[in-house]
Amino acid sequence: MTEFHALVPAAGFGARMGGELPKQYLPLVGKPMLWHTLSALCACPEIATVFVVLSPGDVQFHSYDWSAFGDKLQPLYCGGETRAESVANGLLASELEPDDWVLVHDAARPCITQAQLAKLIDELRDDPVGGILAVPVADTIKRADATQRIECTEPRERLWQAQTPQMFRAGLLARALCSNSGVTDEAGAIEALGLQPKLVAGDSGNFKVTYPQDVQLAELLLQKRRA
Ligand code: CTP
Ligand code: MG
Repeated sequence: MTEFHALVPAAGFGARMGGELPKQYLPLVGKPMLWHTLSALCACPEIATVFVVLSPGDVQFHSYDWSAFGDKLQPLYCGGETRAESVANGLLASELEPDDWVLVHDAARPCITQAQLAKLIDELRDDPVGGILAVPVADTIKRADATQRIECTEPRERLWQAQTPQMFRAGLLARALCSNSGVTDEAGAIEALGLQPKLVAGDSGNFKVTYPQDVQLAELLLQKRRA
């Protein structure tokens, strides 16, 4: 039977965030960011296993109590130099069946909701290619020249911002990442095979915590949900 699994790349350092602690361990409402991300994925009834890909030199993960997630949570200490490498290494180590679905989700998107996960799975479970959560671009888009002056206004029709989870069959995704490791998301590797992943409309609440100013917004959202 085809199963659904999640794979969370969490082997980055968070250079844009700055600071000593890798950003996936920054405290949000009393728990590390990674806890909120893994908690959402482990709470999704369709998802059988949640693999978290850690840096081989990770010293933080074991200092927290993950027992609430039981066997559903599987740490893999095989992160690579880039996000794509971490995902490819994690896929290999997970030993999933080629037909299993895998939802690759950034550790740095702790505000993912059950509704967003359910919508992604429902819209893609019978899809031949797979797809991603994404949001239509809302702002007017400007292209800059080398001096940071506006060169032109880009039409925003049909432009979307890619989010995660990105959901593909494990076999197809492993093949795609093997032949295209220079991509910034899984969909990019699938596109390079000439396939067209589906865009599933999410919302801006599932943003990626990247800069220091994003931390407070994530805390507010998580706190509001808990209340
Ligand atoms: N990631 C990873 N392995 C890497 C780089 C990134 O597993 N070699 C993970 C990060 O831990 C994060 C996700 O990929 O959960 C999305 O990447 P990003 O938000 O860019 O995180 P960082 O790469 O850690 O941050 P930065 O780019 O600012 O350094
Ligand atoms: Mg990065």
